[in-house]
Amino acid sequence: MTTMRKSSFLLTALTILMSISTAISSHSPLQNFLTCFSHNSHASKVIYTPNNTSFLTILNKKMYNKKFQTPTTPKPLAIIAAKDASHVQATIKCAKSNNIQIRIRSGGHDYEGYSYVSDVSFVIIDMFNINSVDINLQEETAWVDSGATLGAGGHFSGGGYGNMMRKYGLSVDNIIDAIIVDANSNILDRKSMGEDLFWAIRGGGGASFGVILSWKLKLVQVPSQLTVFNVKRSKKVVQLNFIGQFLGTTERLLSLIKESFPELNLKNSDCFSMPWINTTLFWYDKPFGTPLEEVLVEGPPSIYFKSKSDYVKNPIPKVVIESLWKKMIEGETMYMDWNPYGGRMKEILPSQTPFPHRAGNLFKIQYFNRWIDGSPESIGRHVNFSRLIQKFMTPYVSSSPREAFLNYRDADIGANIPSNITKFDIARTYGRSYFKANFERLVSVKTKVDPDDFFRYEQSIPTKTY
Ligand SMILES: Cc1cc2nc3c(=O)[nH]c(=O)nc-3n(C[C@H](O)[C@H](O)[C@H](O)COP(=O)(O)OP(=O)(O)OC[C@H]3O[C@@H](n4cnc5c(N)ncnc54)[C@H](O)[C@@H]3O)c2cc1C
Ligand SMILES: *[C@@H]1O[C@H](CO)[C@@H](O)[C@H](O)[C@H]1NC(C)=O
Ligand SMILES: *[C@@H]1O[C@H](CO)[C@@H](O)[C@H](O)[C@H]1NC(C)=O
Ligand SMILES: *[C@@H]1O[C@H](CO)[C@@H](O)[C@H](O)[C@H]1NC(C)=O
Ligand SMILES: *[C@@H]1O[C@H](CO)[C@@H](O)[C@H](O)[C@H]1NC(C)=O
Ligand SMILES: *[C@@H]1O[C@H](CO)[C@@H](O)[C@H](O)[C@H]1NC(C)=O
Repeated sequence: MTTMRKSSFLLTALTILMSISTAISSHSPLQNFLTCFSHNSHASKVIYTPNNTSFLTILNKKMYNKKFQTPTTPKPLAIIAAKDASHVQATIKCAKSNNIQIRIRSGGHDYEGYSYVSDVSFVIIDMFNINSVDINLQEETAWVDSGATLGAGGHFSGGGYGNMMRKYGLSVDNIIDAIIVDANSNILDRKSMGEDLFWAIRGGGGASFGVILSWKLKLVQVPSQLTVFNVKRSKKVVQLNFIGQFLGTTERLLSLIKESFPELNLKNSDCFSMPWINTTLFWYDKPFGTPLEEVLVEGPPSIYFKSKSDYVKNPIPKVVIESLWKKMIEGETMYMDWNPYGGRMKEILPSQTPFPHRAGNLFKIQYFNRWIDGSPESIGRHVNFSRLIQKFMTPYVSSSPREAFLNYRDADIGANIPSNITKFDIARTYGRSYFKANFERLVSVKTKVDPDDFFRYEQSIPTKTY
């Protein structure tokens, strides 16, 4: 009797289990995700699926590289336009329990679209609604949310720089606190995350470690008037722009340039004096007198582009530069940024933050190829040209590792290496390029804070057991 009851009970339990598992398997991971999300957060109107008419509008809203805006580009299962931390927490929890990967997007400037494109099933956590900036003038600090106009999430976590880097270092050199949601959906600040994780997210790429909601910055003093210049010099069909921003007066700048770079022949009439806020419009080629509110307007529309970077340690011979111009003319659509290092940049130790490119660099090159025709043939040809130019520059730039700037993400780094090499070796290839010796510490932090590798993407930091 007892045995009978037991086995019939077992049978019933089994039947129930079976029917539950059948019920689960009949729902798609997305539907399970949506159900889970609705149980874990008071969300209305934050989730867009392909059923929502505005799905594509929202998807394309922050997508700087048109290469990833084609009908055949893989799309996310859903976009979660988080309005507060609870939406981020619920997304992490529900994506995890349904084995769906996430991609995190703030400004959508990623050169390879890694914040909104993937070959795996994924949802996007979109930060554009979390965008306030809170300034404390007494303390000279500011809390800046990841979705603030510039798209601060990726810019800061990737070691972003601006025009004052030779005076004050990178954005990450001026971050004093951060709020992050980790793989267990915990909300942490600097104190609760600890110094290792706080180190890692200041240049190691946030998306390997968590979702950063907000950054606390130490503000820097600028004089009431700055001096800027944008001097154009032409060589046949090549145009060179010498651009400068100086935290001081025109007189002082002219005497400094006369001393250290007389070849430029900088004139008083080349220089413009203005408050810092006006320089932001100047660098966007806005006419004088443009209202300052213009800085709040979204940047230029997206374009097709492929970019690469290099670090230069020794002067490039003149003949090589001549050949480089010739190649650029053949390619027709490429421009380069040569971004001088030195100053404050060389005083900061390479291990201070994950961004390792400090002393010893004369300048960084960005090879920026952009074009209008979006056909696959055109995309292939332009990407090939970028590779060709970079190959040509091999003898004149950093090697072992050939360094690259994380914020100029390049999918070619670590691609096309022999198939007998492990996934970790591939990660080490891009890891060493972006982080040099800091890669190992990033792997340790990653292994500690996200051992299951929930926060992964195409060029993420691997765990030790990857
Ligand atoms: C027109 C243009 C101008 C640029 N100018 C400069 C410049 O002057 N200086 C400079 O340093 N860089 C510059 N960049 C590069 C830019 O800093 C990087 O592309 C940066 O990664 C952009 O961050 P984002 O949030 O806009 O991009 P996204 O594409 O949203 O994100 C980039 C990466 O960061 C991750 N990420 C985004 N938000 C978060 C978050 N909240 N938490 C965790 N991870 C997150 C993403 O998942 C992705 O891996 C420029 C890029 C463009 C397209
Ligand atoms: C998307 O559509 C669903 C179902 O119609 C709706 O509940 C949800 O609010 C919509 N999302 C947004 C952001 O409007
Ligand atoms: C989208 O709409 C289709 C057709 O109405 C429906 O079958 C499907 O369940 C919907 N998907 C989501 C995620 O709401
Ligand atoms: C700065 O910009 C404001 C707004 O356009 C303008 O009124 C002011 O004259 C500008 N100052 C300088 C020095 O360009
Ligand atoms: C790009 O280069 C590859 C390898 O050299 C070549 O096979 C391919 O045809 C090129 N593509 C275009 C569009 O030129
Ligand atoms: C991978 O293969 C290449 C040649 O096919 C060989 O030279 C190399 O040693 C191999 N590497 C490893 C890690 O097995």
